[in-house]
Amino acid sequence: MPDTPDDPFDIPALDQALNETPFSGRLRFFPSIHSTNTHAMQEADAGAPEGMVYFADEQTAGRGRGAHHWSSPPGSGLYVSVLLRPRIPPADVLWLSLAAGLAVRDAVMQVTSLACDLRWPNDLLFGPRKFCGILTELNAEVTRIRHLVVGIGINVHPRQFPPELSGIATSLHIETGRDWPRQQLLIALLQSLHREVLALSPSADANVARQSVLDRLERASSWVRGKRVRVEESESFDGVTEGLDARGFLQVRTPQGLRTVFSGGVREINNGRGK
Ligand code: BTN
Repeated sequence: MPDTPDDPFDIPALDQALNETPFSGRLRFFPSIHSTNTHAMQEADAGAPEGMVYFADEQTAGRGRGAHHWSSPPGSGLYVSVLLRPRIPPADVLWLSLAAGLAVRDAVMQVTSLACDLRWPNDLLFGPRKFCGILTELNAEVTRIRHLVVGIGINVHPRQFPPELSGIATSLHIETGRDWPRQQLLIALLQSLHREVLALSPSADANVARQSVLDRLERASSWVRGKRVRVEESESFDGVTEGLDARGFLQVRTPQGLRTVFSGGVREINNGRGK
């Protein structure tokens, strides 16, 4: 049996399904590309409009957070980057990044009926294993965002991962024993992302939308409260998560007091060792 099923995209049908979103008419598919995020940032610099969606069957240089590599073999996952030009200050970008995680969670639930976990700021997991990551990149002045690219990678079809990754990586196929069409996932994801972005835009009631992001994260994520974690910032520290602050940053209780996680990632600590 082949390692990945035949799972093509039907671009006209995709475009039609998205006709009530700004993404319709703005889909660009690549059989193979270095990185959809790199490409989207270059296109944005060159003046591409808001709502452009760049997605690929394969990435040869897929990028993750913290300069990590994102494995993107052909026909295996969803690799998509969305170009936004939100009229919000750069300090508010975390809201969009958190909302993107909720949008993916909602899309996966719609398609597979599975509820996944969210690790702050926006990794998606089943149990301890990650199946989706989000890389949000920004071009901004101090007070104004020129453009923002939200890059989403979902492991859809992989049957297995190399031994060094099998404890920390998973896919929708591994979790369900089934192959889910990338087309359907992409439609649900872009519709859901559109709803989140609209709700957080300055014309909507952004305070209500932000509170909704906080509430949904509190409900959906086992990481927001009561998790023993190691925070990997410039200097790492350990503690127990204690909710999100009013700006969406993760709070961690340490022996020295409550600390805020501004960047970096968190890892669960088991038996005193970060994993
Ligand atoms: C992470 O480290 O968790 C973020 C992974 C983000 C991967 C996606 S795949 C589509 C887009 N293009 C990239 O090069 N990276 C993002």
